Amino acid sequence: MDLFEYQAKELFAEYGVPVPQGKVASTPQEARAIAEEFAAAGTSRVVVKAQVKAGGRGKAGGVKVADDAQDAQAKAEEILGMDIKGHTVHRVLVEEASAIEEEYYFSFLLDRANRTFLSICSAEGGVEIEEVAASNPDAVAKVEIDALKGAPAEVAADIVRRGKLPEQAAAGAVELITKLWDVFVGADATLVEVNPLILTGDGRVVALDAKVTLDENAAFRQDLESRKVAAEGDPLEVAAKEKGLNYVKLDGEVGIIGNGAGLVMSTLDVVAYAGESRGGAKPANFLDIGGGASAEVMANGLEIILGDSDVRSVFVNVFGGITACDAVANGIVQALELLESRGDDVSKPLVVRLDGNNAELGRKILNDRNHPAVRQLDTMDGAAAQAAELAAK
Ligand SMILES: Nc1ncnc2c1ncn2[C@@H]1O[C@H](COP(=O)(O)OP(=O)(O)OP(=O)(O)O)[C@@H](O)[C@H]1O
Ligand SMILES: [Mg+2]
Repeated sequence: MDLFEYQAKELFAEYGVPVPQGKVASTPQEARAIAEEFAAAGTSRVVVKAQVKAGGRGKAGGVKVADDAQDAQAKAEEILGMDIKGHTVHRVLVEEASAIEEEYYFSFLLDRANRTFLSICSAEGGVEIEEVAASNPDAVAKVEIDALKGAPAEVAADIVRRGKLPEQAAAGAVELITKLWDVFVGADATLVEVNPLILTGDGRVVALDAKVTLDENAAFRQDLESRKVAAEGDPLEVAAKEKGLNYVKLDGEVGIIGNGAGLVMSTLDVVAYAGESRGGAKPANFLDIGGGASAEVMANGLEIILGDSDVRSVFVNVFGGITACDAVANGIVQALELLESRGDDVSKPLVVRLDGNNAELGRKILNDRNHPAVRQLDTMDGAAAQAAELAAK
């Protein structure tokens, strides 16, 4: 689970990691009031920052400096409602403007591929870090972290040295990094990223940005509920969650429905593979309708997927087990009728593959119904190829 920047900074502050003073606002008036508080305390310049779970906010115009409270309101007006990489901005963080001397990069993360924890550190931080990593990899130090040792001062000092952070930032950076490791462990994070980590005009090292991903497997010992913000994330995911569906939005064009998480996962792979040689179509989502697959669940699933403007074809991949294929076929027929009766558009092609328990009967039900959007294939590979082809057209 990803945190918003303002939540990540609250977490940092709990562990003593230096962050700028700031508060979150969801209206321009609130932003103004916060800026007025800062002004009363002697800081009139503030930064208004879009709170979305996406990188590159600054480049997208989602981070703006305001000279006074009036200006903060105007900047919040501009930023709220903005679309940044498909995320609508519902909140802004209004924080004191820092006097930036230099910008660095630092992160701790779980490196699954190498089965270790990793720290990444660079003296060339800021919004261009991805380009630095690509064009000048030597400028980006990657240091493995021994899980048992963690990142005490001597380890942090080694990271700072290898990241080539300048002398005047070293002591502050070491202290900040040791505390960040406490955040990483204490909150069961899989990522804590600070870009930029800055050196201020008066020589302090401060986390100016914060990205944190928490491990949801640790929910039993972490209070993740309180960090969940209503109606956050992708609107389709929010709608799916309200319907109790197991749905994850992806960035392709082939809508996927299957029964059982394992089958759906392999369906994603098969579709991605089929798409490679067919115009590059990719899966648009993960959706596991589980056992049962009643008409209602099928209708809810189809409604979400057909409501995704990226989707150009849908692959319904069902292996009949306890829920037999005839029940699923009836579910599909009834779902289409339900959606049509509600005036939903169900013209996107639906490629259906039924196999397993009562597959013959299920196929017959769909053949007899002969819905113009539905076509059937007997194999998973064949159906994936067809769905990918239809999406590429
Ligand atoms: N409180 C602040 N005071 C002064 N400048 C700031 C402040 N916050 C951000 N900035 C400036 O805006 C830039 C972008 O901010 P930030 O890194 O928070 O957003 P971002 O563009 O979303 O970054 P990323 O691409 O890492 O997601 C910073 O590099 C910094 O130069
Ligand atoms: Mg940043």
